[in-house]
Amino acid sequence: MSEDKTVLSVRDLKLYYRTKKGVVKALEEIAFDLKKEDVLAVVGESGCGKSTLARALVRVLPRNIHTYEGKVILNGRNVMELDEETFRREVRWKKISIVFQGAMNSFNPVFRIGYQVAEPLIIHDNVEKKEALNRARQLMELMGMPGAFAERYPFELSGGMKQRAAIAMALITNPEIVILDEPTSALDVLTQANIINLLKRIKNELRLTYVFITHDLGLASELANKVAVIYAGKMVEISAADVFYTEPKHPYSRGLIASVPTLSTDRTPEFISGSPPSLIDLPSGCRFHPRCRFAWDKCRTEEPSMFRLEENHLVRCWLYGGGK
Ligand SMILES: Nc1ncnc2c1ncn2[C@@H]1O[C@H](COP(=O)(O)OP(=O)(O)OP(=O)(O)O)[C@@H](O)[C@H]1O
Ligand code: SF4
Ligand SMILES: [Mg+2]
Repeated sequence: MSEDKTVLSVRDLKLYYRTKKGVVKALEEIAFDLKKEDVLAVVGESGCGKSTLARALVRVLPRNIHTYEGKVILNGRNVMELDEETFRREVRWKKISIVFQGAMNSFNPVFRIGYQVAEPLIIHDNVEKKEALNRARQLMELMGMPGAFAERYPFELSGGMKQRAAIAMALITNPEIVILDEPTSALDVLTQANIINLLKRIKNELRLTYVFITHDLGLASELANKVAVIYAGKMVEISAADVFYTEPKHPYSRGLIASVPTLSTDRTPEFISGSPPSLIDLPSGCRFHPRCRFAWDKCRTEEPSMFRLEENHLVRCWLYGGGK
């Protein structure tokens, strides 16, 4: 259960990339609040800006940044105001850490896994190597790995085991918040289920707060108590998870839910027609209007703001506010 303390507030977070073809407006007007032990699932189609959000929160950015602004308030402190050195020393890994998308395939093949899990402690905390290796081993065991696996090289581990090691690595500096970017994609369903159960257990044991990025709504429902839907770089709905799964409001959220196959009914999954727009050349008005069956004139010309339906339920759609 989450308690009342807000650990992370994000306001007006914006990130644009510079490219030869123009400016990619990857993320705009992102805002949410997380209380301790919350799990926010961030869902949306490929390319909508989920990994960009992850990188923006831990400030691990490529060189071609055009704009990076907004507030990331961690325990009351806007860490966007910190210079890079202070952010590195006090925030990244220490307060917010991340399991990058594809992390399990990013281990260096020439170093043992235990050393790589321990590396953030050795590099960022100046912890002595032997002590850091011991801690890595303990964490790998907490992640359900035999301690002896610390001595193995990445190629000697299965995908599931490598992913457990990647999660152990994100936890080694005792962060409060962990960003999990597609932590189970590319794994078989049983391994996925094991890792989700593990993530649940360690969240409770270590009292962690997660930002859980996934395109899999089924997995999100296993872990999340809040869901944020991103469409073409903007958050279009955020609510408690049970509300999202039973009464999604935004037409895009409704389409996402309707597209999930279920075993319990013979309902045929529906698909959202069309594809997401280019983030370099966004549609006028509501970004979803070319694909929305409810769209009317206003949707084509005026961009909706977030309308509040209930205290914790916001929707970016003219159907829910602003008049006709
Ligand atoms: N360094 C970059 N330079 C230019 N454009 C980028 C860069 N990184 C990402 N993008 C673009 O920004 C948009 C958002 O990308 P992002 O990786 O955040 O999407 P995503 O939601 O994580 O997708 P996926 O589900 O496939 O992982 C995409 O259009 C992508 O092509
Ligand atoms: S604002 Fe209009 S186009 Fe956009 S989702 Fe709502 S109804 Fe559809
Ligand atoms: Mg991604």
